[in-house]
Amino acid sequence: TENVTLDQGFANTASCKSEITFIDGDAGILRYRGYPIEQLAEKSTFLETAYLVLYGELPTATQLSEWEERIRRSTLIDERMRDFFRTFPRGSHPMPVLAAGIMSLSTFSSKATGLDEAAQEKATEQLIAKVPTLAAYGYKNSMGQPTLYPDNSLSYVENFLRMSFGFPTEDYEFDESITRALDVLLILHADHEQNCSTSTVRLVGSSGANMFASVSAGVNALSGPKHGGANQAVLEMLAFIRDHKMDVSEFVKKVKNKEDGVKLMGFGHRVYKNYDPRAAIIKKHADEILSKHIRGSHEDLLQIAQELEQAALSDDYFQERKLYPNVDFYTGLIYEAMGFPVDMFTVLFAIGRLPGWIAQWREAASDPHTKIGRPRQIYIGEPARDYVGMANR
Ligand code: CMC
Repeated sequence: TENVTLDQGFANTASCKSEITFIDGDAGILRYRGYPIEQLAEKSTFLETAYLVLYGELPTATQLSEWEERIRRSTLIDERMRDFFRTFPRGSHPMPVLAAGIMSLSTFSSKATGLDEAAQEKATEQLIAKVPTLAAYGYKNSMGQPTLYPDNSLSYVENFLRMSFGFPTEDYEFDESITRALDVLLILHADHEQNCSTSTVRLVGSSGANMFASVSAGVNALSGPKHGGANQAVLEMLAFIRDHKMDVSEFVKKVKNKEDGVKLMGFGHRVYKNYDPRAAIIKKHADEILSKHIRGSHEDLLQIAQELEQAALSDDYFQERKLYPNVDFYTGLIYEAMGFPVDMFTVLFAIGRLPGWIAQWREAASDPHTKIGRPRQIYIGEPARDYVGMANR
């Protein structure tokens, strides 16, 4: 292990050069392809932002309508994939179902599993178009409800909402504020440079594995509570405080004392040492959505969240460590107000992060300097010793 430097969690090691996303963690700045996240959240749509993240430039009107049309035409999944969903038990968590669904999808998309440019384009289109269908089917399955075919007269987000909450026998009524809020949330999640799931996608892709295999691995990496699973964990934390009639300061004390490893979920970030700019945008939308849609016990959760944020921001422990709310602190409350159950929250994050995973996979695939990812280690185990026969152990 000569010349090997230990960098646990890769806190100081750049694994690649990238043109996609810029973050200044101290200043709280996030840009996709140079465009500030605040402007994209206000003015763009998720599909337009996906195009930007993937292809590097904002599309012209023609490029955008061609792109939207391509995606719209590919939303349907093979009929046999519907049987796939029926084999999972009712109540199964939709994240593993999504990861498995993405792998299964690859068996129906043989033209998209190669590594050449045409296959990459096909895989991009298949994944962006079909992942919301897979996600909605996973959700419907977990609820024991019938699935709906995509309706290609609808927008990307409308289609997903209808497939999630609609019923085959009823018209689905859209709420404009919910549709837009979900569009914005997806924009905010579209890429975040070399986070755990994206690094996973790149690492898997570096072996020459195809986009489906790499993205499916990304979904699994995202599922953990320190990463995308935090949005579910935040809501569970808020519900725990409410159900135990706990005082917020009591909970903060538990966190500070590191009792049972309790963390303030939705706080802290490897890169942001300032307010996460995505959290600031979400907070604005949260006020609007929650004032309109939140009811009963959810109101308590919002209040607990606000009190927790205040208590943490004014506390030495959090100030010294520069722990601020991250993207996951308020998203769960909004998803809940939209009607999603907690175990769908991370699936929504996955739909949003998809353009980033794909763009990063493609950037690595087209970079002649990409090498197979293969970190080193510092060995601290036993020195050489002789095999001991069973009788002498
Ligand atoms: N609550 C309490 N203490 C914390 C928290 C927290 N949420 N986050 C960090 N700390 C403490 C940590 O214990 C350590 O203290 P000490 O120096 O006394 O040992 C110090 O702050 C530095 O933290 P770290 O663990 O070295 O930081 P990291 O960069 O390895 O971890 C993190 C980053 C996001 C995993 C962590 O902050 C965390 O677990 N947060 C809660 C989970 C969460 O909200 N995750 C979502 C992240 S944003 C979106 C996403 O990636 O999905």
